[in-house]
Amino acid sequence: MGVEVKIVPDNAALARAAAQEFHHVAEDAVRERGRFSVALSGGNTPRTVYSLLASEHRQLPWNSIHIFFGDERHVPPDDPESNFRMASESLLSKVPIPQSNVHRIRAELDAEAASMQYEQELREFFHLVDHDWPHFDLIFLGLGDDGHTASLFPGSKALTDESSRVTANWVEKFQTFRITLTFPVLNHAAEVVFLVSGASKARILSEVLRPGVRKFPAQNVQPENGRLLWLVDQDAGSLLRFATTPTP
Ligand code: 6PG
Repeated sequence: MGVEVKIVPDNAALARAAAQEFHHVAEDAVRERGRFSVALSGGNTPRTVYSLLASEHRQLPWNSIHIFFGDERHVPPDDPESNFRMASESLLSKVPIPQSNVHRIRAELDAEAASMQYEQELREFFHLVDHDWPHFDLIFLGLGDDGHTASLFPGSKALTDESSRVTANWVEKFQTFRITLTFPVLNHAAEVVFLVSGASKARILSEVLRPGVRKFPAQNVQPENGRLLWLVDQDAGSLLRFATTPTP
């Protein structure tokens, strides 16, 4: 499946488009399979998406929605740096989702232990055996200024991990571990949506989407049988030099 790039006017339009995509994929998954599995991204960009889901998409079948995380900082769930805390404050605490449907990364544990615990959580939820990969219905991802996504940072060990589903990845520049899903898991999803907003991302986005040599981790996100959608606002897309589908 090809790469779709949708440019929307601004961050608010990006949040609306992402929330609608979540809603759409969730309804299809629940109708067809009785449940919807989604991995949320961290960082700042998705916060407005999560808030909009909480305020304008309350009618979703939250009982059948299972929330996972693409990655987590190595901090307890109440830490200001915690992706779980961000998602909880902006979405999870505001919608009628059963707590058992929220599968957070237990990053208060030792990094390796947290990674192994999450691997077990995936195995149980997706009924994985041997070397099966989980098939998320939807994965939200962000793009860092250095071309990282989830916690798959340039020069880090996890970039070449083709056997684990989750890994504790040492990030030299932050001198800390991050717990992250690996590329094979990202690339076995039915749909991956990158959320990219703001002028500060324009240069890296234009380099990541330039066809040719893969230099950046985010370029390794190529779903095998899934859809890859880049939802980008105009500021972030200002340096793109190829046909995109501007969305009104
Ligand atoms: C994290 C994220 C990370 C994020 C990018 C973009 O834990 O930080 O998962 O991959 O998506 O760093 O972050 P911003 O949206 O804050 O620019």
